Amino acid sequence: MNDQLDAFLQQVQDRIFELTRREFGEKVFERWQNPLYMGDMPHADGHAKLKGTCGDSMEMYLKVADGRVVDASFQTDGCGPSIVCGSYAAEMARGKTLEELLEFSGASILRELGGLPTEHEHCAFLAAESVKAAVDDYMIKRVRKPQEERTSD
Ligand code: FES
Repeated sequence: MNDQLDAFLQQVQDRIFELTRREFGEKVFERWQNPLYMGDMPHADGHAKLKGTCGDSMEMYLKVADGRVVDASFQTDGCGPSIVCGSYAAEMARGKTLEELLEFSGASILRELGGLPTEHEHCAFLAAESVKAAVDDYMIKRVRKPQEERTSD
């Protein structure tokens, strides 16, 4: 009986995976299965938590050195596509200068993914906005730091 149940559950899972691949593509599926850069970052230099119109939240953490993002991670309580978009947002932010991130947008993530179904495009924009808000947070903290601490960043 247990073997039958296991086989049935395996079939259901295989079907879900097949449908997900078909709807979102292999790249999105693979990242959903292996969401790189997901997790909190203690002592981040820049941090933001935004809530999308869908009610999901996206958190972004940045480490910055010499005006460049040297590490980034994200957290979300959102859907599969929001996990994928947060993961790509963190990946794409890594190594970029803060000036380069001024151009960063949901469209950048959608291009990288080869697009998402229309009803999930907002997930990419939420992820990109969280990167920009984390940069803003970094800049605000930097301005408030005493001059001698700023020169060591
Ligand atoms: Fe809300 Fe994806 S971020 S549906």
